Amino acid sequence: MFPLLFLRRATCCVSSFTVRSVYGGLTAGLFLACSGAEEPEAAPGAPIPCEVQQVLERNCLRCHGEHREYGAPYSFTSLEEIHRVRGSEPLYRRMFEALEDDFMPPVTLKVEPPVQDISDADREVLMEWTRAGAPEGEACQ
Ligand code: HEC
Repeated sequence: MFPLLFLRRATCCVSSFTVRSVYGGLTAGLFLACSGAEEPEAAPGAPIPCEVQQVLERNCLRCHGEHREYGAPYSFTSLEEIHRVRGSEPLYRRMFEALEDDFMPPVTLKVEPPVQDISDADREVLMEWTRAGAPEGEACQ
């Protein structure tokens, strides 16, 4: 539907690396952008792929939903939100880093019922999708 978004991603030689800081768990994601391309924005109303949506529901939306809970910043309820630049980078990249660092889901948070860790399969889906620049896809029916 919006091939431009994919094209620009595909031709974009993303090279990002993370530096683990001595403060433990803090990560600075450095992103070397490619050939002057600015971040593609998600078209308003573009759908989150169904598989990703389900992973978010299972693991993240309890806190990062329409109503944010337990002090969680950001809602992951639309592709537009997920592409919004937060700090110096789009939110999906922060999501990637939070997963990579095992910062999220926050299993040490004292809440009832306790926070379940994300399964390897779900983590993989979400990391691959965010690494790919969080492209739109077919929504759940
Ligand atoms: C039980 C509630 C809860 C769940 C579930 C949860 N989060 Fe969070 N999240 C938080 C809270 C609270 C913070 C703020 C933590 C802080 O700043 O110390 C946060 C912060 C974040 C941040 C911001 C980190 C930054 O860059 O500053 C990201 C990104 C994030 N969460 C992603 C996720 C993802 C992805 C999932 C699902 C795999 C998830 N979270 C699941 C509560 C939650």
